[in-house]
Amino acid sequence: MNAKKLLKHSRPVPRYTSYPTAPHFHSGVDARLYGAWLGQLPRDVPLSLYIHIPFCDTLCWFCGCHMQVVRSRQPVASYVDLLLQEIRLLSATLGEGARPLSHLHFGGGSPCLLAPEDIDRIAGELWRHFHPASDAEIAVEMDPRDLQRDVVQAFARLGVTRASLGVQDLSPKVQIAINRWQPFEVVAQAAETIRSAGIARLNLDLMYGLPYQTEQQVVSTAEAVLTLEPDRLALFGYAHVPHMKRHQRLIPEQALPDEEARLEQAEAAARTLVEAGYRRIGLDHFARPNDPLAEACAKGALHRNFQGYTVDKAPVLLGLGVSAIGTLPYGYVQNLPGVPEYRQALQQGKLPVARGVETSADDRRDRDIISKLMCEFRVNLGAYGGAGNFREARSALAPLIADGLLDLNNDELVILPAGRPLVRVVAAAFDRYLQGSGVRHSKAI
Ligand SMILES: C[S@@+](CC[C@H](N)C(=O)[O-])C[C@H]1O[C@@H](n2cnc3c(N)ncnc32)[C@H](O)[C@@H]1O
Repeated sequence: MNAKKLLKHSRPVPRYTSYPTAPHFHSGVDARLYGAWLGQLPRDVPLSLYIHIPFCDTLCWFCGCHMQVVRSRQPVASYVDLLLQEIRLLSATLGEGARPLSHLHFGGGSPCLLAPEDIDRIAGELWRHFHPASDAEIAVEMDPRDLQRDVVQAFARLGVTRASLGVQDLSPKVQIAINRWQPFEVVAQAAETIRSAGIARLNLDLMYGLPYQTEQQVVSTAEAVLTLEPDRLALFGYAHVPHMKRHQRLIPEQALPDEEARLEQAEAAARTLVEAGYRRIGLDHFARPNDPLAEACAKGALHRNFQGYTVDKAPVLLGLGVSAIGTLPYGYVQNLPGVPEYRQALQQGKLPVARGVETSADDRRDRDIISKLMCEFRVNLGAYGGAGNFREARSALAPLIADGLLDLNNDELVILPAGRPLVRVVAAAFDRYLQGSGVRHSKAI
């Protein structure tokens, strides 16, 4: 790999978990419009749900998620009361009768801060309004530190089929620098707790680009967690955005690896995982060959949503909880970010919507192209009127073609193996919102 050649083309671009991306959402999409969109959905359309639990009991200094630290159980329990109200309101807006559910994801924050009785209450309300398909996947993000067996068992009772554990890095020096102490034994114990509760599928999150991380350290973390035999791994590049996440100022910037070191870390960890038999999927995922994600990737049936890569093909994803984002055929919608205003909206009987964006036919075309690139590293522009239709994108991509990172043959645009770390940069060439938007993203590598 020629790092210099790649880095020449790297620049700050979105991660494309949606298109248009979240900075382009606006308050023109409000509770009234969202209600109208929900009312138009056909009764039998399969739905996916995302539920956001925005609480943690400690602050990880690298954290880029929408969360707040709480010191007692009380705010979590009263948040659950609000979630139940939102589930009822959403269901009433969808109309009479239970709806089919294909996928449910609990994210955070740390959903494991919920008490077992809170999880049971959520299950009781959910299953009154939504009927999961027999092959529905129900996933939950878990913090391995202080993971309580009765909480995991409550999630298993709810029907959880997959858990993802945040590992990040196992070196004490890195863990101190990110304020997240979790020796390997803690992760191994958490994996055992999850499996013995009957949750069969295990994902692990790893990170590179953290302070004091070295290539050797990233590889030894990967080797250690492979002994736990996870079904999937995510390998996220640390996104350092202290202008948006003020607590990231606690990260010692002088200890952050430079772009070349980041690239080497990512590739070294990827080699370790691939040599251990995992399939490389998209930008940052790895899965066992018999995992549905690897099977979907092989069939060209991979999708991308706010949780990253998914096999979920439900056309509608509805978000519940503060800041949660939903995807509908008509556009995106995001909930209010703060608990007080979320509570106020629900008390007034209103869907707690903050903003969103309606998608035009051009947006949907560009979203398809970006999604194909992010999932499959190739797109046939013939399906979108031909390469001649994309003059600006072609001129933005010409330097990558000249450097042998990308191939455009007739209408077939292919990101070559050497160019894959630049997939976000290639996708950005089709992003009509990016030019002159003034939004600051993290670097592509
Ligand atoms: C939504 S977080 C939930 C993690 C869970 N609460 C825990 O403590 O394990 C999911 C994952 O996002 C990743 N992540 C968080 N902040 C990030 C950042 N600034 N850059 C890249 N990845 C990040 C981490 O790998 C983390 O495990």
